[in-house]
Amino acid sequence: MNATDALSVEAIRGRLGADTAWREVCLFGEVPSTNHVLAQLARSGARAGTVVLAEGQTEGRGRCGRTWFSPSGVNLYVSALFREALAASDAPLFSFIASLAVADAVRELGPDPAIKWPNDVLVGGKKVAGALIECATRGVLVDYLIVGVGVNVNVSLAALHAALGPAGTAATSLAEVLGREVDRNALAASYLSHIEAWARRFRTEGAAPILAAWRDRDILTGRRVEARRDGERFDGRVLGVNRSGHLVIRPLSGEPREMLAEEIRVLD
Ligand code: BTN
Repeated sequence: MNATDALSVEAIRGRLGADTAWREVCLFGEVPSTNHVLAQLARSGARAGTVVLAEGQTEGRGRCGRTWFSPSGVNLYVSALFREALAASDAPLFSFIASLAVADAVRELGPDPAIKWPNDVLVGGKKVAGALIECATRGVLVDYLIVGVGVNVNVSLAALHAALGPAGTAATSLAEVLGREVDRNALAASYLSHIEAWARRFRTEGAAPILAAWRDRDILTGRRVEARRDGERFDGRVLGVNRSGHLVIRPLSGEPREMLAEEIRVLD
């Protein structure tokens, strides 16, 4: 089978175990955003275990209000629905769960990925994937969580650079790293199996194993960074992540500060 073959629900389902949590796998051609489509389904009562994939996105969303470059037919855009008995304050842990699952799926292909807080997956220091978690709450509890992941799979460097401009130099794709095209159906199934396993682990063992695995892959702890918080820029050293998944930075002067979802630039 050619790696550039179209995504196929059958090919993905065939690789998931019979007892998979992913009961409903929906595949679209082009959508504005798989997170957006899944949020609509969730609001109309879709069950936990619903997954939305698309060949392309016209309004792919990234973190911090950015857009996510989403050309058709080459990459992975996948959103998964969770309905967890979870405090809303614990929702950021799903961003760690998502990046660990992507990192596991990438590692099965050969490269050894790292994670840059909160959920960028890097190979050779360049970003191959990111996650956008969207959470609906009822009071202090989570109603549903949408975990959206975008992976640069077979997109060319030329296309990345043309679309992202100077920021494109910080990104790459799995095909560029491996020197061969990657089977997107196999990658999707691998990612879904891993995220299911990490979510199960979180339910049975709590946050500790998630944080421990994530810390093993984290590239920011100990580094000097420039951070932006509440419109203010400051330099500091990363102390690590806390139990809630927030990044803790010690500024050059003053008390350590917790970061929620802000941008971090590595200085050293
Ligand atoms: C980031 O900025 O690093 C997060 C990117 C997340 C992109 C994915 S693609 C599938 C899902 N749908 C979206 O619109 N965004 C996420």
